[in-house]
Amino acid sequence: MNLILNTMPEKANLQPIPYRNNIIEYGRYMATASGCIDCHTRHEKGKFVGEFYAGGTEFNLSDGLIIRSSNLTPHETGIGTWTKEQFVARFKAYADSVYTPHMVQTGDFQSIMPWTMYAYGKV
Ligand code: HEC
Repeated sequence: MNLILNTMPEKANLQPIPYRNNIIEYGRYMATASGCIDCHTRHEKGKFVGEFYAGGTEFNLSDGLIIRSSNLTPHETGIGTWTKEQFVARFKAYADSVYTPHMVQTGDFQSIMPWTMYAYGKV
């Protein structure tokens, strides 16, 4: 019975989309809708642990490499020193028509960060 109660999906709590000029609320909406927190916050046994968006989630890649999600907090060890332009450019690099995805060879850097999925958003 506990299993059923603990795994029942919560009822959706639909909210109006914030206005784009409300940058804090709109940013929160975008990050939530895009699921950034899921990879960029560590979790144990299905619960978030540590600071939200502080990164450190480990992903074991098939070739034995471990990749860790980055710290996205405003701290200097996160992306606190990035300008808005740098942040947007990091994503837009993958929307550039000269970017072509390539086959990753064993040992190459690879990422599960869905760069290309987010690259086409309107800014
Ligand atoms: C499927 C897991 C996953 C999701 C979802 C995800 N990320 Fe990432 N992200 C990663 C990993 C792993 C890295 C480190 C590897 C890399 O840079 O590609 C990373 C790197 C980054 C970086 C680079 C930081 C640096 O210091 O270079 C930024 C910025 C970033 N993510 C932002 C976001 C945002 C914003 C979202 C939501 C729109 C998001 N990520 C969603 C896994 C994820």
